Amino acid sequence: MPKIEWLRKEFNYGYSSGNILSRFPNRVRRKEEYAIGGSYRRVFLNGLRPYLSSTSKVLEIGPGKGSWTRAILKHVRNGEVSTIDFQDATIWLKPEKYNCRLKCFVVNEYDYSCLEDNFYDIHWSFGVLCHNNQDAINKILLNLYKKIKPGGYAIHQYADWEKLEKYGWGKGTIPIEFKEKPDNEIWWPRNNQKTMVKIAKKTGWKIITPDIGIVKRDSIIVLKKEQYTNEKNIK
Ligand SMILES: C[S@@+](CC[C@H](N)C(=O)[O-])C[C@H]1O[C@@H](n2cnc3c(N)ncnc32)[C@H](O)[C@@H]1O
Repeated sequence: MPKIEWLRKEFNYGYSSGNILSRFPNRVRRKEEYAIGGSYRRVFLNGLRPYLSSTSKVLEIGPGKGSWTRAILKHVRNGEVSTIDFQDATIWLKPEKYNCRLKCFVVNEYDYSCLEDNFYDIHWSFGVLCHNNQDAINKILLNLYKKIKPGGYAIHQYADWEKLEKYGWGKGTIPIEFKEKPDNEIWWPRNNQKTMVKIAKKTGWKIITPDIGIVKRDSIIVLKKEQYTNEKNIK
């Protein structure tokens, strides 16, 4: 299931996580927060906001309907956001409302030539890598590495089967039958902190932390692109 053909179609209705910054979560966000075991507002304020400034250039993969994109745009008032998704997010995000501060690109695979190299300060994703298998995550981290400025950061939520096991499959709303199935037949493929760290290192990133520890079911990794990189060892 997490094959690229499935991913391209699955979220075409436009996935929303509600309003990330509201003090009182709406029904959609409340349900998701119960499943993930943590507050999206806290993830934003404590996990992402410390890396943002008012002029940041942010790259987001998988905005869906744009719940996180809207929150980011509020915090980078003189900066800009580019999004890449298999879906056409312009329908939901309406970039014309943001006075050239928002660009939404549609991608088909893992080719990001639509984006400028060494341009973005921060790369963000939520609810995306958890649906991509390890091979796809490798391609995403590798191909987006060159889009980030030296000294820039990447922050990604991802599936962590070890945390999920402790938290509870039922509570986490992930079918326990997935344990018996191969990754290409499930929508929550295997991953954990050790694997994620290995992929991130191999693709050139420095690990700041494998998990910021704000949510109980999944992990959220923080990576840095060093000022001076030896691109020869990256694959
Ligand atoms: C579950 S939705 C999450 C949407 C939003 N980030 C949120 O948390 O509300 C996942 C989104 O990521 C997109 N997506 C998943 N894998 C992707 C990939 N490899 N490249 C581009 N977009 C991807 C999907 O099309 C979908 O819009």
